[in-house]
Amino acid sequence: MINNLSGEEWGHPTTFDFSWLNAIDAPIFVLDENKIYYANQNALALAGVSLLDMVDQDFGRWLVARNDEETSCLEDLTPLLSEGDCRTHFLTQHNGMLPVRISIRPLLAPTDDSASLRKSLKIVTLRDVPAEELSLQQHTQELIAELSQRRRELEALVTVASALHNTIVQEEMFPIILDQFSNQFKADGASLLLPNPNHEEITVALAVGEWKETTGQHLARGQGISWQVIDKGNLYVNNAIQNEPDLARTVFAGGLPCGVCVPLRSHSTLLGLVWLGRNDPFGEDDIRLLAGIADISASNVYRARLFEQTQERFQRLSGLHSIDMAITSSLDLKLTLDVLLDQVVAQMQVNAADILLFDPGLYWLEFAAGRGFVHAIRTHAPRSLNDSPAGQVALERQMISIPDLAKANISTEYWFSPDEGFQSYFAAPLIAKGHVKGVLELYHRHPYQPDSEWLAFLETLATQAAIAIDNAELFEHLQRSNEELSMAYDATIEGWSHALELRDQETHGHAQRVTDLTVRLARQMGVRDEEIQYYRRGVLLHDIGKMAIPDRILFKEGPLTSAEQEIMRQHPSYAYELLLPIGYLRPSLDIPYAHHEWWDGTGYPRQLKGEKIPLAARIFAVVDVWDALRNKRSYRPAWGFRKVKEHILSLSGTHFDPLVVREFMRMISSDEQFTRE
Ligand code: C2E
Ligand code: SIN
Ligand code: SIN
Ligand code: FE
Ligand code: FE
Repeated sequence: MINNLSGEEWGHPTTFDFSWLNAIDAPIFVLDENKIYYANQNALALAGVSLLDMVDQDFGRWLVARNDEETSCLEDLTPLLSEGDCRTHFLTQHNGMLPVRISIRPLLAPTDDSASLRKSLKIVTLRDVPAEELSLQQHTQELIAELSQRRRELEALVTVASALHNTIVQEEMFPIILDQFSNQFKADGASLLLPNPNHEEITVALAVGEWKETTGQHLARGQGISWQVIDKGNLYVNNAIQNEPDLARTVFAGGLPCGVCVPLRSHSTLLGLVWLGRNDPFGEDDIRLLAGIADISASNVYRARLFEQTQERFQRLSGLHSIDMAITSSLDLKLTLDVLLDQVVAQMQVNAADILLFDPGLYWLEFAAGRGFVHAIRTHAPRSLNDSPAGQVALERQMISIPDLAKANISTEYWFSPDEGFQSYFAAPLIAKGHVKGVLELYHRHPYQPDSEWLAFLETLATQAAIAIDNAELFEHLQRSNEELSMAYDATIEGWSHALELRDQETHGHAQRVTDLTVRLARQMGVRDEEIQYYRRGVLLHDIGKMAIPDRILFKEGPLTSAEQEIMRQHPSYAYELLLPIGYLRPSLDIPYAHHEWWDGTGYPRQLKGEKIPLAARIFAVVDVWDALRNKRSYRPAWGFRKVKEHILSLSGTHFDPLVVREFMRMISSDEQFTRE
């Protein structure tokens, strides 16, 4: 992949190219007079310096005489140009003194015409240098070179890392990353490409330098080198990139010759691509550094992404919790759906949302709750199952996604106004216990490409909505069956009381009249509505115990004997025994059981006194005697108004609770139907 990498530069403007000397194993110097004109790589390695540091230096500087013989050699060398061999010590790096044999030869005339220079040049070869010394020295030098390169790299990496350190937001990282890449490699063009959530295309999210104008361009899946880099996961380098047949030329339109593409990848997730272009070729060291900066950038972006995801998930979780709370704490469906839609709008970043309920009777979807609509009327119209996307969702029980309504071939105007400006549409079926309850619809006013997490959360919300609807329906049903049940009970009660009246012909209408009067009086005295319903049933059943009284006593014309009276006085206890097993009627027992107790404690069956007698019974006792006396009995004719009034007033404080008597008088005196004689 690496093309056109240039050969090593020597960094010295040599007139003659001596690089062929590098092919020779021994350290070799070219001297001009006694100055070093060129040194091959082995020579440089042994001395531990660069060519630049050696050129023009006195060659004698590297030679150390250790004895007479060597001195002479050195002296021989000083007048120079004498050919031959001598022994001496060579000063290696770190002042090591290596015994060597030196052979000096005049440079054989090449075909060149630089005669004046040629005459003075000598080739000096160091002989007898142990091979391991040579390789060791060379290795050390390579190591030093590598270390200093590594130090430069490290500095670059630290720069990138500290630039990214202070931000945890992905979007803020991208310009920093691109800047760092661009600066470190002195790029003429740099761009950052990001994959779209569905990984169908990549987009130039950011471009700088010569490529600034390419920001926002897309590469469809498979297009260009970028997709090869994504698929292979490798770094791509080409120092003659304009010859690349696969190049998309969206970024490289300007004709920069050298390019690299680095994937930003962390935890096997592709986060993006960086393209760099410049006029200078990219070398091996550049590539290593590119990979390093890509690594650091990617792991920082990944960290930011994780943080954002965690934050988002936490928000969604607490959103779900508040929906749960709404479902469990409220059985009002409208309220629960409102909470749910608030969460939908907040957590899913949609512009509008609604919930449609399926009506199995009418076979359509009915609007139940909505958020964010401008023109509610059209949205509120029922949707048929057969020709709306929502209907399709309900029928097929499958979510539909329309990221771009403009591209989808469906007419929307009958279900929302064009003024809404919706551009994307998502709908999920609400299914509970295998039944479609409705559809959740989401709208954006811009095309929206969701990621898998968004879609998964939509599904979760749909499940929650379905549960909420199911719960509410269940409650409504329960309430209805409760109502039906209580209606059935009341019918039974009224049936009983009617049966009683049929038997006791002369009290006809008594039950209904005393019921009305008792309820009125109780309300006047501030009894709460929940209690009133128990009063009603109690009144209807007050003499149910008379069912157990033999006809000969109940229908006796004339006063009762004391034995008969004793039997007759059992009727409240019979009522108690009869009604006690029926839990539903237990709150209504007070009146049947205690309506013949007296305020002064001389009543029956328990001789309760004063406020020990339940209020319901105290209220009812007045009404009962009133109505009994106002109507004829088999044992006496009906009494006139004034007589009954006097009678009741005379029993205030003995038979009746004085407060109830006072309230009763207030009630009847305000209504002519009672005061008629
Ligand atoms: P009821 O006819 O529904 O009468 C309810 C209550 O109204 C009676 O409770 C009593 O407090 C009052 N009341 C009814 N009629 C008269 C009356 O002529 N004079 C007076 N002073 N008060 C009257 P009580 O007395 O506990 O009677 C309970 C039930 O016993 C009565 O219900 C009725 O069914 C029966 N009963 C009471 N006295 C007689 C009687 O002399 N002959 C017959 N056949 N039944 C009687
Ligand atoms: C590519 O080929 O994938 C990107 C480079 C370009 O668009 O020039
Ligand atoms: C991937 O690189 O395939 C997944 C990254 C993403 O979730 O966007
Ligand atoms: Fe009674
Ligand atoms: Fe009665």
